[in-house]
Amino acid sequence: MTTVLAIESSCDETAVAVYDGRLRAHALHSQTALHAAYGGVVPELAARDHLMRVTPLLDTALAEAGMGPRDIDVLAYTAGPGLAGALLVGAATAAGIATALQRPLIPVHHMEAHLLAPMLDEADPPESPFVALLVSGGHSMLVDVAAPGAYRLLGESLDDAVGEAFDKTASLLDLPYPGGPELARLAEDGDPARFTLPRPLRDRPELAFSFSGLKTAVRLLCEKQAPLDAATRADIARAFEEACVDVLVTKCRQALMQTGRERLVVAGGVSANKRLRQALRAACDAHGARLHLPPPAYCTDNAAMVAYTGWLRRFDAPASGTDIHPRWPLESLAPPIAEPLHA
Ligand code: KG4
Ligand code: ZN
Repeated sequence: MTTVLAIESSCDETAVAVYDGRLRAHALHSQTALHAAYGGVVPELAARDHLMRVTPLLDTALAEAGMGPRDIDVLAYTAGPGLAGALLVGAATAAGIATALQRPLIPVHHMEAHLLAPMLDEADPPESPFVALLVSGGHSMLVDVAAPGAYRLLGESLDDAVGEAFDKTASLLDLPYPGGPELARLAEDGDPARFTLPRPLRDRPELAFSFSGLKTAVRLLCEKQAPLDAATRADIARAFEEACVDVLVTKCRQALMQTGRERLVVAGGVSANKRLRQALRAACDAHGARLHLPPPAYCTDNAAMVAYTGWLRRFDAPASGTDIHPRWPLESLAPPIAEPLHA
């Protein structure tokens, strides 16, 4: 049995997890409060805070797993994509422990980790092949997954990621950072019939997304309706959420039809959105496809998904030093090595 300890520090969550075929521990600190005053993530502050948090989180995770450092066989860390300074903290910490314990060090692709997060569902892990919709603050993409590590990009956003559009729209509505969950909460009280916003690229056959025009449409609507009363803000939030959900669900349906796959895996921070989850469930039921959604805690950034991915890649060639890739195409990955080279 191989025990993997993993560190996530790509953006504004510091997290440590232990996985050995089952998740043994997970400790997380969110920097939300730190960045709230600035209305978005400040990279330098994020990196400094990761540095402060990572050692106590390592202690917490090891204690939760009932393990000491020497029980760890492999170190894994998020090597990218992400903020360079933030990534370096996790990379340097993992490299330090790996050197001290003389253990291999496995770099993990953050979006692959999101994509594999539904595998943490012990009762019903998704089997390959499947289509994956990855929707986070930095990415919106549809990926054809023949097997773990064999990824074909079907389409991605031409401009803003959907999470970014949620965050920017939330700030137009004067909601605090991070905007996505706040906007979703406000939309609960909104009337879906009052405003209709555009559905960019929805009716085109290609699987690309575009969300920046939608954000502009919200800005124009806010200007037209100013001054905004509470009901109007909720109605605009609801119209925005409805438009995003409609586009995402339609593209998923198209992707399933174009690839002939019968499973859909959805991951990344925006997959925590309740209305999106309900609409995807209804669309997959109607299409006769299986839907796999990670529990909300593993939709947003966490180390459990990094530990799982590191465990799957435990026989890969280890990283040397503090290897990071702030930009790292998912399609450049290869399938994990299945067996140790010198078994
Ligand atoms: O995957 P994630 O935690 O971090 C990145 O790798 O980017 O995704 C964060 C994004 C943010 O844009 C956040 O606003 C969005 O996910 N998000 C949501 C919800 N929860 C998080 N968007 C809509 N509804 C939610 N409930
Ligand atoms: Zn993420």
